[in-house]
Amino acid sequence: MKIFVDTANREEIEQAASWGILDGVTTNPTLLAKEMERTRKGYRQILEEICQIVNGPVNGEVVSTDSKGMVREGLELAEIHENMVVKVPMIPEGLKAVKRLRQEGIRTNVTLAFSPSQALLAAKAGATYVSPFVGRIDDKSGDGMEVVSQIVQIFQNYNLPTEVLAASLRHPVHVVEAALLGADIATMPFSVLQKLFEHPLTDIGLKQFLADWEKTKQKIVG
Ligand code: E4P
Repeated sequence: MKIFVDTANREEIEQAASWGILDGVTTNPTLLAKEMERTRKGYRQILEEICQIVNGPVNGEVVSTDSKGMVREGLELAEIHENMVVKVPMIPEGLKAVKRLRQEGIRTNVTLAFSPSQALLAAKAGATYVSPFVGRIDDKSGDGMEVVSQIVQIFQNYNLPTEVLAASLRHPVHVVEAALLGADIATMPFSVLQKLFEHPLTDIGLKQFLADWEKTKQKIVG
């Protein structure tokens, strides 16, 4: 499963990339607005900088709600870098834009997907990725992982090439469940990515190993 980080924060992306486990980045208008406010940079500069750090898909989202506007914005976003993926909301006008952008050779991610039927339509329109928002479904007393499971099953049934990008993940168990279900990608906030490393037995074990080695007064190098 590929791992994406869901942030526009340069420092977080640099750190995640330095760990050697980062396959891509997702942003959304909320995340970009936050970063623009924090850095006083424009959206384009922020996305350009992210593309320099990460050698993989970088998602930027359109903000128009009519297909013409979405296509115009999508072309603009795609022009930033060859790794840009255009996020389009899961509405009829969005799917029209997906089809059009696909004809231009531009990869798309249908976002704000909350049901298997929406994901099926996104795949039929030719989306490269579809993003079921697990945490937001759970927030409304639904079962976000069941939605991911059904989407994975449907795409397998019909050999649909659209990749399932499990989004709105809130904790490490979400990430593990997405992997067990066969989601192609999991995108998560930097804080969740950090938590994937953590296990108390790792810390206890390392402390013990270092204490035992210290007693020998030996060095491995020089
Ligand atoms: C994904 O592309 C979205 O930006 C993201 O996962 C939304 O997550 P949230 O529900 O935590 O805002």
